[in-house]
Amino acid sequence: MSIPVATVGRAAGDLVAGLEGLRGPIAVVRHCAELAELIAVCQSGLARAAIVSTGIDELTASVLDRFRHQGVSLLVLSDDGAQQRRLQNLGVATAPERSGAVDLAAQICRLVDAGPELGVATPSGGADPGYADASAPLRTHAATDPPSEGFLPQGSRGPAGPAPAGVAEHRVLAVWGPVGSPGKTTVAVNLAAEAAATGDSVLLIDADTYGPSVAATLGLLDESAGIAQACRYAEQGVLDPASLLKSSVELVVGGSPLRVLTGLSRADRWPELRSSALRQVLDRSREVFQTTVIDCGFALEADEELSFDTMAPRRNGSALLVLSEADQVIAVGAADSIGVPRLLRALDEVLSIVPAACLTVVLNKVRASAVGRRPEAALRRAWERFGPSLPIAHFLPWEPESADRALLAGQALREAVADSQLRRKIADIIGADAQRSRRSAVTSNTAGRTVSR
Ligand SMILES: Nc1ncnc2c1ncn2[C@@H]1O[C@H](COP(=O)(O)OP(=O)(O)O)[C@@H](O)[C@H]1O
Ligand SMILES: [Mg+2]
Repeated sequence: MSIPVATVGRAAGDLVAGLEGLRGPIAVVRHCAELAELIAVCQSGLARAAIVSTGIDELTASVLDRFRHQGVSLLVLSDDGAQQRRLQNLGVATAPERSGAVDLAAQICRLVDAGPELGVATPSGGADPGYADASAPLRTHAATDPPSEGFLPQGSRGPAGPAPAGVAEHRVLAVWGPVGSPGKTTVAVNLAAEAAATGDSVLLIDADTYGPSVAATLGLLDESAGIAQACRYAEQGVLDPASLLKSSVELVVGGSPLRVLTGLSRADRWPELRSSALRQVLDRSREVFQTTVIDCGFALEADEELSFDTMAPRRNGSALLVLSEADQVIAVGAADSIGVPRLLRALDEVLSIVPAACLTVVLNKVRASAVGRRPEAALRRAWERFGPSLPIAHFLPWEPESADRALLAGQALREAVADSQLRRKIADIIGADAQRSRRSAVTSNTAGRTVSR
């Protein structure tokens, strides 16, 4: 059976007769006047492939996702080198404008055979329960850039097996939790600061679409919404290491540099964080930084059903994408009678949508006054009765004075209250203290702070 193809643009139109003349693998079902019409034709399910030679600038990451979502493979005719590179970044195949019908038909067949890579996140099912082993070191992905000596604890290879010799492994950690301010931002900011202090290159991303607050927590007077800027570059297919760095600000925290992609300046800008763009931001960050920490907002009780099955921008879409892409999801809940059931419900829901999410449960604000004497044992007992087969991996103490002091100073705990138990327990989540002593890296807690772009 021949492949139904839709076309748009003069160069593509000139090819129609030639393609038809092949009487072969391709049938041109529609030649469209403009890109919008082509999109409509593809969305109606008429075509399995499209050849585009006009409106190429309009092919952004989210427009391309529409084609992928419909299972339509795209081939763009362009002789413009910059445009070709941009499209390549967006994962789109290109061919010269004057390609012959035979070559184009062959290329279309190959593209359709390979299938359009779905640009939107899909939940991965299968036998993998997706639970993190709380006693295991954090999972990491292999990255392509040169290794930096020993930034990982020994034995911290992920399930994918050891990385090829000479290739460092980079990790993406998502900090997530239900509504009610269990301490997501506190954990994210301090995890990033602790990772930076071990010598890792670190990017901290505020992807909270409900209450972005990383900039305020770190005392940054940043109105530029770095995450939105990086997503705009990604939409256009021009997000590279340089533009990622340009979108972020650099802080020096206790002598160690830490880069931050600040969050949306207003919560109603959430449609700017589209999954297709955010995915590229994570991919680029994984290439460039040894550790990426994402503070992702999430309000399951909020305004929408959780689902991947839509092309409309969704407020929770970015959080779902992050949860499915992260090597490890640090799930933070408040250790009290409201916070624990909330976390349990939220975990349930997340696991039904992203079953492969690799979760580490952290209970924060642990205090006897809320759950009784020996609070950790009490919480464990309650968790075992009601909780999923996922263990509580870490307990973080209730330390209002340390938290307030850091917040007031706009600093990470290691700057404001270096000896705090809360700081040490957060460092334990990524084994940062152990890494530091192994490297015997001497970092000064008294070093000043500078901010630069
Ligand atoms: N372990 C803790 N002890 C005391 N206060 C804490 C602790 N963790 C967080 N806080 C405080 O709780 C409030 C909410 O924390 P935040 O990290 O902003 O929550 P979320 O990001 O989940 O909304 C902040 O005032 C923060 O300083
Ligand atoms: Mg927050």
